[in-house]
Amino acid sequence: MDRIRISGGRRLNGSIPISGAKNATLPLMIASLLTEDTLVLDNVPRLADVNLLQRILGNHGVDVMVGGKRLGETAYEGQTLHISAARIVDLTAPYELVSRMRASFWVIAPLVARMGEARVSMPGGCAIGTRPVDLLIMALQRLGAKIEIDGGYVVASARDGLKGAEIDFPKVTVSGTHTALMAASLARGTTVIRNAAREPEIKDVADCLNKMGARINGAGTAEIVVEGVARLGGARHRVVPDRIETGTYAMAVAMTGGDVMLENARAELLQAALDVLAKAGLEYNETNRGLRVARNGGPLASVDVSTAPFPGFPTDLQAQFMALMSRADGTSRITETIFENRFMHVQELARLGARIHLEGETATVEGVERLKGAPVMATDLRASVSLVIAALAAEGETMVNRVYHLDRGFERLEDKLAACGAAIERIAG
Ligand code: EPU
Repeated sequence: MDRIRISGGRRLNGSIPISGAKNATLPLMIASLLTEDTLVLDNVPRLADVNLLQRILGNHGVDVMVGGKRLGETAYEGQTLHISAARIVDLTAPYELVSRMRASFWVIAPLVARMGEARVSMPGGCAIGTRPVDLLIMALQRLGAKIEIDGGYVVASARDGLKGAEIDFPKVTVSGTHTALMAASLARGTTVIRNAAREPEIKDVADCLNKMGARINGAGTAEIVVEGVARLGGARHRVVPDRIETGTYAMAVAMTGGDVMLENARAELLQAALDVLAKAGLEYNETNRGLRVARNGGPLASVDVSTAPFPGFPTDLQAQFMALMSRADGTSRITETIFENRFMHVQELARLGARIHLEGETATVEGVERLKGAPVMATDLRASVSLVIAALAAEGETMVNRVYHLDRGFERLEDKLAACGAAIERIAG
């Protein structure tokens, strides 16, 4: 298993290209199941999760062609995938695959909408809590799918197709909204989705579905209306920039000090996080190249934060922000409201010298003057990267183990940081 070695204490200066969003790419790839025509996705990040989903889709009969290098293109530019689900040969998503990536459960929606049947393994436990799929099932049932649970599998069927319906989500869910959108696109009649997730990735998927011929209005707001169509066709779509990668590097710069241009980043995708970071002492301004972030001198102020669905402060930046606050002046309170138990990073940050007290869903972080390098590991993607942020500012050497979690969601993390002056290297294991 690869490890990453970091010697802390260097400022970050330079530029970091922001990749396409993992959490838009995965549902966009899954949306390819809705049509027999080819879906072309540009700006796809090179991530382990993308490769794994390619395998999962391959099991259903989907061909994925990865475009080769084009003249003048650098290795930092995203890749282009040509995805064709012309013939679906298998309606089952097996446990061995679904248990490795929760989002692959979402194939249930396009499969039942287009093929009238799907058999998808329940995803099972996960490092960040129980993460049930009851609301995804509820959405499919509202659209007329019959659902049975059989041997750990959710079997959805709709022999005569799905029918438009009103879907009121009792809580905001990204996965539930993706499921409802994809299924409703091919349902007969009109669907109204209320209390829909407003995350930019939902809007990005809806934009792509509309290019494929869907009739979706209101994506990005809490009420989405979908007029079902009989079939969808091919399209070409560019994946939205990754707001979580953007926020993560912004926090790294806030942590170490320095001045970095986050190429292609867009402020409106993470305004709540930028507001919090500005209070903590980060300067930022948006240019036509991206988002420039800087902290030159001056202490880090402590800020209280509570995670919330978009447009609130994202749960996917909570761990990174906790790392930042571990060096701030004073005490901050960080509350996690989306996932119970998304605090695996607390014990590992403590190994670097952070002082964090956990009570229920709130962590109280007492800023310390210095962190000290140590061997650490984490069992979740965002938790792992929070350790990298802490290590960049820690004295001495930190070894981050189990790097495969980072590879699931951060493209060339060590290259991007090293190019800005960080002492960071991957050790193949
Ligand atoms: N929930 C239910 N029932 C359901 C579905 C969700 O109770 O049927 C609950 C969840 O347990 C959670 C809350 O609703 O407490 C929100 O879950 P949501 O469905 O919004 O999350 P998700 O779709 O499973 C996506 C991202 C996560 C991100 C969350 C929240 C992808 C592939 N995953 O998960 O990203 O944290 O939205 O924004 O898009 C990550 O990238 O590291 C990651 C975990």
